[in-house]
Amino acid sequence: MRVAVVGSGYVGLVASACLAELGHEVVCVDNDQEKIAALVNGEVPIHEEFLPELLARHRGHRLRFSGSLPEAMRDSRIVFIAVGTPPAENGEADLSYVEAVARDVGRQLRDYTVIVEKSTVPVYTCEWVRRVISLNAGAPVEFDVASNPEFLREGTAVTDFLYPDRIVIGADNERSALALRELYEPLTSGDYYRQPTAIPRPAGSPSTAAPLVATSSKSAELIKHASNAFLALKISFINAVANVCEAVGADVEQVTTGIGLDSRIGPRFLRPGIGYGGSCFPKDVMAFRAVARDYGYDFRLLEEVMRINDDQRQRFLRKVRNTLWTLKSKRLAVLGLAFKGGTDDIRESPAVAIVRALLKEGCEVAAYDPAAMERARAEFDGCAVHFCSDPYHAAHEADALLILTDWEEFAALDLERIAHALKYPVVLDGRNLYRPEAMAQHGLTYVSVGRGTVAGAAGRGALSRTAGSVKE
Ligand code: UGA
Repeated sequence: MRVAVVGSGYVGLVASACLAELGHEVVCVDNDQEKIAALVNGEVPIHEEFLPELLARHRGHRLRFSGSLPEAMRDSRIVFIAVGTPPAENGEADLSYVEAVARDVGRQLRDYTVIVEKSTVPVYTCEWVRRVISLNAGAPVEFDVASNPEFLREGTAVTDFLYPDRIVIGADNERSALALRELYEPLTSGDYYRQPTAIPRPAGSPSTAAPLVATSSKSAELIKHASNAFLALKISFINAVANVCEAVGADVEQVTTGIGLDSRIGPRFLRPGIGYGGSCFPKDVMAFRAVARDYGYDFRLLEEVMRINDDQRQRFLRKVRNTLWTLKSKRLAVLGLAFKGGTDDIRESPAVAIVRALLKEGCEVAAYDPAAMERARAEFDGCAVHFCSDPYHAAHEADALLILTDWEEFAALDLERIAHALKYPVVLDGRNLYRPEAMAQHGLTYVSVGRGTVAGAAGRGALSRTAGSVKE
């Protein structure tokens, strides 16, 4: 099937590469000519597992990049809208890019086409897109508008696309639903998984055939917002439980094991820490709250989800202060700047927010991130942030080490080397990557989330030298 994808950001690019992998003829179009030129030249603009392989496999054959919407739309049966929906001042999603694309699509429509919104958008967007296309179509032409939300996580977006928990098709008539069913047939029939060249199945994925959920367009729009809001709620819930654990002297890791084994709750998305970030959860929870209010429902639960999330960063900063006493002129090693492990994305990163707050208090930061350094360099241009070549370099002569992103490699540090490199053997872990006892055995004072602080023997001595009394 010939398909056009408008937008070459995370969603558009991954969807384009994966649809080509499923055998479709895809044209990915963007009005950013520089971006298109880079993609044509073989550059891979985002850090995403398997994306370089898929682009190399299909670029110039089944996958083309173009700066021209009319060219991309020619003969396309389906046009995906995958442009950004950034938050507006009032918390609602800014849909002006979606509207602009709908206008242009309307002007270019010639034959029956299914226009599909893939961007995360509030309920009723399909209706608006329909209206805008009708108003801008020169001559009467048949078209449908459907919603096909994505559930891709950054870092694992390719396997999330190819091995999905579900595919949601929100179509208001059979004709458009059929086109989308046909598009995803290689996944729903399981044919793709039998191909020898298929991208390998991720561990734990049950997909032998991807389940398809057919709904109305409004339900599909709500499924996307409600899914992200529920996942954010799970994270805020466990962070609130972690805070209770700290107050009563319980261990949140034991508590999550205990509750996560209840199959009705499940163990995933129950990792406490410094709160959720990224380009999706903060924006989508806020937008869902705003859209519910617009339609007359006061979804206050979501307000609390956001409040707990913001507070989680503040609590971590208080821990840094309580552990180090004064912050001015302290040198802090920071491991992790991305909003989560496995990505170079620093948008709405709790790590970046914490570094900013520490810089404001007069700290000097020595930072390391396996993938996000380039983006962080631009973010902290002119600030007291030194970018280091590895965790040990960052830890060298630092007053404390802060772990702010859950990169796998940060969970496997050579603790002996870290303890030796630090000026004072103190680790504040915002992601609970270590067992407190293991840290104490290496003489490290270890402060984490929802668990008691342990003070290694060397840590106690060192801290009393630097900070006098330490509130723990
Ligand atoms: C999220 C959703 O997981 C995807 O299903 C969705 O498609 C995507 O948003 C989107 O709307 O486009 P993503 O933002 O890539 O994906 O990241 P997640 O893996 O969901 O993590 C979000 C944040 O929550 C990160 O800051 C992460 O560190 C944090 N998190 C996650 C926790 O603090 N605890 C957890 O247990 C899980």
